[in-house]
Amino acid sequence: MLNGGTESGAGSDSGRVRRGSEVFRAALMALAIPVLLSPLSARADEGVPSPTLFQPLAEPAGMILDYGFMLVATCLGIFIVVIALLAFTVIRFRVPADDKGREPPQVYGSDQLELAWTIVPVLIVVVLGLVTAGRIVALQRDEPPPGSLAVRVVGHQWWWELEYPDYGFVTANELHLPVGRVAFLELESQDVIHSFWLPQLSGKTDVIPNRTNTMWIEPQAVGMVVGQCAEYCGNQHANMLLRVFIHSPADFERWARGQQLEARKAPGVAEGRALFAHTACVNCHTVRGLSEIGHFGPDLTHLMSRTTLAAGAAANDRANLVDWITNPDHIKPGSRMPAMKLSASEVGLVAGYLESLE
Ligand code: CUA
Repeated sequence: MLNGGTESGAGSDSGRVRRGSEVFRAALMALAIPVLLSPLSARADEGVPSPTLFQPLAEPAGMILDYGFMLVATCLGIFIVVIALLAFTVIRFRVPADDKGREPPQVYGSDQLELAWTIVPVLIVVVLGLVTAGRIVALQRDEPPPGSLAVRVVGHQWWWELEYPDYGFVTANELHLPVGRVAFLELESQDVIHSFWLPQLSGKTDVIPNRTNTMWIEPQAVGMVVGQCAEYCGNQHANMLLRVFIHSPADFERWARGQQLEARKAPGVAEGRALFAHTACVNCHTVRGLSEIGHFGPDLTHLMSRTTLAAGAAANDRANLVDWITNPDHIKPGSRMPAMKLSASEVGLVAGYLESLE
């Protein structure tokens, strides 16, 4: 049931609402998008599609959107009926100018009226409550469904660690998912409370220290969407971005097999590799095949397979890489990564080495 597409168990209510609501939808989008999505500007480059609640690419985002429209349409219907009755009453029962002294008919204690304005609202609330309960049950999955893809998400100040336990590798800030298969996410935090939010794929789920929350995503179209941390978590909260690449199943397997490999030992970057291995870089970063002691920062084994640096704060290119190593605060003030006080030529060697980590 994405974009008015296939129906699957939404019930006749939301189907009717959707058909009759195109104009209403457009008006609501025009009003709501700037307000809802202003913090979600994609910083690293211009070619990234804007995130939107209104173009779901997965369940449960589709069913959440349908449910939202159903609620708004119901409230709008009630509003129109009430305003129409009010206007009718004001016009129809106006006291004529030449009859000011006459008292209008008194309806206090009318059984019909009392029953009507008790029963009708109760019915509306009960129906909405049942629909809501149905949606909550559909959204809630405490156990991974059979055949689902397991992903462990760990929130850090200010980046996302992404582990694929079935495949045995860890990456960061760019989630890759296959289309048509449920991904079952376990969300944990290393430090403070974060919130995992991908508006086009799902609702928000809090990421809480000492607790494992779960959520599921079933992508229904290939593409790239952006998301971000949605719970204030410190001064770089706004730069805790996330990208999701939805692939065909074959492309996903190809990507995952590439990620499983150890880091390339490219010729010509031995000096940079040695420098990386002998500075404090390795205390925080793992490069599989070189050093696996550091887990405080993102795994860099396949750094060059990612499109951004610093959780979406900058495009992943040579100039930004040099800038980032030289002075992380320049790109992301307050970042947990320290400046290593390397000389310009040493930074160049380390950047050259990192660029070989495809
Ligand atoms: Cu993490 Cu806000």
